[in-house]
Amino acid sequence: MKYATKAFRSPTALVLLAGLALRASLPLFSHAQTETVSSPDGTISVVFELADSVPTYAVSRAGVAIIERSRLGVVLRNAAPLTSGFSVAGVARSEHNDVWEQVWGETAQIRDHHREMRITLEETGVQNPRTMVLRFRVFDDGVGFRYEWPSQPYLDEFVVEEEVTEFSFAQDNTSWWIPAFEHQRYEYLYARDPVSRLGRVHTPLTMVTPDGLYLSLHEAALTDYASMALQHTGGTTLRAELVPWSDGAAVFAEAPHVSPWRTIQIADEPGELIASYLVLNLNEPNKLDDTSWIQPGKYVGVWWEMHLGISSWGSGETHGATTENVKRYIDFAAAHGFDGVLVEGWNTGWDGDWAGDGEDFSFTEAHPDFDMEYLSRYAGERGVYIIGHHENGGGVENYARQLEGALDYYAQRGVRAVKSGYVEWGQDIKRTLPANTVPTSQQRRVGEWHHGQFMVEHYRHVLQRMADHKIMLNVHEPIKPTGIRRTYPNMMTREGARGQEYNSTWGGGNGLDHNVTLPFTRLLAGPMDFTPGTFDLDGEGPGPQNAVESTLAHQLALYVVMYSPLQMASDLPENYESHPEAFQFIKDVPVDWSDTRVVHARIGDFVTIARKDRNSEDWYLGGITDGQPRTLVASLDFLDAGRTYTAEIYADAVDANWETNPEAYTIARQTVDASTALPMKLAPGGGIAVRFVATANEAEE
Ligand code: NOJ
Repeated sequence: MKYATKAFRSPTALVLLAGLALRASLPLFSHAQTETVSSPDGTISVVFELADSVPTYAVSRAGVAIIERSRLGVVLRNAAPLTSGFSVAGVARSEHNDVWEQVWGETAQIRDHHREMRITLEETGVQNPRTMVLRFRVFDDGVGFRYEWPSQPYLDEFVVEEEVTEFSFAQDNTSWWIPAFEHQRYEYLYARDPVSRLGRVHTPLTMVTPDGLYLSLHEAALTDYASMALQHTGGTTLRAELVPWSDGAAVFAEAPHVSPWRTIQIADEPGELIASYLVLNLNEPNKLDDTSWIQPGKYVGVWWEMHLGISSWGSGETHGATTENVKRYIDFAAAHGFDGVLVEGWNTGWDGDWAGDGEDFSFTEAHPDFDMEYLSRYAGERGVYIIGHHENGGGVENYARQLEGALDYYAQRGVRAVKSGYVEWGQDIKRTLPANTVPTSQQRRVGEWHHGQFMVEHYRHVLQRMADHKIMLNVHEPIKPTGIRRTYPNMMTREGARGQEYNSTWGGGNGLDHNVTLPFTRLLAGPMDFTPGTFDLDGEGPGPQNAVESTLAHQLALYVVMYSPLQMASDLPENYESHPEAFQFIKDVPVDWSDTRVVHARIGDFVTIARKDRNSEDWYLGGITDGQPRTLVASLDFLDAGRTYTAEIYADAVDANWETNPEAYTIARQTVDASTALPMKLAPGGGIAVRFVATANEAEE
């Protein structure tokens, strides 16, 4: 691997012009110092400005302002804020350009090419001056910056009450948003509004400027810190709002400490946001010595039948995770080449109100009608592993207390992946106050948000303990992804949005716009365990299911569109058995890719993505639409030049329609190459899934 750090070269004329354009629009300050850093291609520039001792930054692209001068800094508890009174004590610049390999992912190799500017700020005119560093990294596809508090004499332990980090947008950008600080965590349908009308929203926050530039605001490397929501503060300005602890503080820290990166991805086309790896580039490299046990895979499971109300998590007549039923899923998985079988409701603690506080869950005691010893052996003999399940109902202390035993239990029984779950509403993760704290109320147990520093640390602790046991992790009700999968590649996938489960009996449905919005919003942050693959779409199958607003071909396409290294075939085995031809696509589709290309992209309308299998020369394509039928053409120029492919095309039948005829599809075969233009006809709620099987090229014959 090449690592090149070069002295910063002088900025291009374009960047100077950009800086001037920004400066011209600012009020004059009696004392201002500016420092500029630009992307390697010179298009994006960040202007840091210390304006009357207040640190600010601005971002432009090709001379056009994107973020106007915006404040930086933090407010501390029982100490003066670190928001003004600074001078610049040093400016260091460097450039970095290398390529690194993903253990698994959307693409095998990622280039990290950025220019960095590190501004050291020191307080002036005070007796005990403190230091804060602002580190900016500018890539061709966007910007990251973070706060750093180095070791120093007058800042040791400190409490961040709030960040004043602002994002003052130059224009009233249209934004796709979900609300923050609401009881369903990240599980909301995306709405679309101008920045000036937002309230408190989660990231990733995707936007389009009136000039047609696409932006995504998020954060990278969220470690030992509170997660960042965004609060509208007037005009077109949003401010970082850190998710607080129950006592109102945001972050308990001790120098040296760093904040996560605040990220702004910038693109000409929405599809470029999908193909941007900026968030991963801002994370630390892989920390695990041995990754041979981390293997992407596909799974089925005792799951949908519970969501349909056919069986139950709890014990009794309808208990789903019985030895007999799990055996049926293992046989099905083995017969069709799946790697794992998820088993929910296998353990004790589900009876009664399990989502009350989760205190009753045992993570080592199975229901008497579930024979783990037998089933893990039975699965292993058939080349399948059981995927464990740790729903804790938000009872994280009960879970943490049992964690070591729970992981030993699973590791000894060949369980290679665990799905965890934190179903609790809003601020209801229960924490016992340490013995020496005086509670503000008389209670010794307080409610924490899922997304504050307490839970960020909990999720990380569990991830690290799973790694020590060589177990891959899939988190439901998670903290949002911020690229930690690069550092801990056993962090496979997670929920953190409304998944397929909302099309169940209880969920009310996701509607027609959701699937064509997720790839441009939640999915920008990282893989999602969406659990696609519903084949019984009209709701007339065994369960009292809602009609799903999707065609069957759309469901197949989701395996390519919604990236996840652990991908579920979520429907009941019998629903796959009744569509064996379509099921073949789910059996074939890989979960680890060497390349990803976005073919069509219109947020909330349609999206087509092509990906190349990491373990063969085959390509795959998935295209989906909202309620509108579409006639599109996919240029197959992503295919390898000089090769021919047999395209296996799973398309909506001519009369397919999510509402009236969702399960009608056709399968066709055609020889294609990189010069082919593939017509795509998508039904309302429809989709298309294509496997391009590479034929040997001349050199290989
Ligand atoms: C919510 C999760 O998203 C779902 O997948 C799981 O089945 C239930 N919680 C029970 O743990």
